[in-house]
Amino acid sequence: MTAKYLVTGATGQLGQRVIHHLLETSGVKPGDIIAASRKPEKLAALAEKGVQLRQVDFDDVASMEAAFAEANNVLIISTDTLDRPGHRLVQHRAAIAAAEKAGVKHLLYTSMPEPVNSPLLFAPDHEGTEAAIQASAIPAWTILRNNWYFENVMMSAGPALASGHWYSAAGDGKIAHISRDDLGRAAAAALVVAGNDKKVYTLTGAVAHSHRDIAALLAKSAGKAITVVDVPLEGLVQGMVGAGLPEPVARVYASIDTMIGQGGLSRITGDFKALTGVEPQVFENWVESQAPALKAMAA
Ligand SMILES: NC(=O)c1ccc[n+]([C@@H]2O[C@H](COP(=O)([O-])OP(=O)(O)OC[C@H]3O[C@@H](n4cnc5c(N)ncnc54)[C@H](OP(=O)(O)O)[C@@H]3O)[C@@H](O)[C@H]2O)c1
Repeated sequence: MTAKYLVTGATGQLGQRVIHHLLETSGVKPGDIIAASRKPEKLAALAEKGVQLRQVDFDDVASMEAAFAEANNVLIISTDTLDRPGHRLVQHRAAIAAAEKAGVKHLLYTSMPEPVNSPLLFAPDHEGTEAAIQASAIPAWTILRNNWYFENVMMSAGPALASGHWYSAAGDGKIAHISRDDLGRAAAAALVVAGNDKKVYTLTGAVAHSHRDIAALLAKSAGKAITVVDVPLEGLVQGMVGAGLPEPVARVYASIDTMIGQGGLSRITGDFKALTGVEPQVFENWVESQAPALKAMAA
């Protein structure tokens, strides 16, 4: 055993925030952390601080078994494989099997809210991963059901501010967005609590907003009006296809609106505060902080 905590996807945006909070918020010694990545050579700055680096790829079982055997607590950050539907469930199952074989004591995973029977087309990856964790012999695990990042809003903001229209199939459904940084903080906190339990946390912001609410906030910060145009699901899909997206990818994105419309991201919980002891960051403040980028999108 060379470390207490291992984080996969350590070069990723969330992985970086988890390691930041392990070091700076939870006060973990750098030598107690393994930053695991397919490309550890990108993590020289962490190595200089004394964080250990390992090469880990969910498509390479040997890399996982070797690295996971060196840590008691392992956070698996979910991958994104929109180009290979279903492949990340294969990857996550392989990671869970490797963790089990390596004798990991506490496994953590980044999931999504209400993944069971969700209309979201990639929800079965999370549902299947959660099921594999629950069926494993790993003695303790923590499932972090992460709501949508604040930062995702920028993907809708670009086209909405450029055209003045936001085409939505989500109706009045709301999203309890939370900042990516807060999710990193929560994951770090969950890694360092005594991991001898089996727990599911649903991590959300303090307020939920509809597309209309969000459009109004974006418009205020950008200084340009946005009209939300309600469209049926098929209209949304065809609009994205017309803009150049492959149809299967458009259907995946459009299914996010279906899920929002059905309330799948609307539930607000106190789990973030329970884990971290602090309030989640405020969405309105974050939108305001993006004003320069939003104004550029509107120009
Ligand atoms: N809740 C939300 O709103 C939301 C939004 C977008 C994504 N997500 C999910 O949350 C995850 C983390 O988000 P993020 O913002 O950090 O995304 P990101 O910056 O794209 O990072 C994804 C990470 O996945 C890791 N990865 C990719 N292929 C891998 C493989 N074969 N084996 C091991 N690791 C692999 C990469 O790690 P290395 O390159 O270091 O190996 C990469 O750093 C995403 O991958 C996705 O599953 C959630």
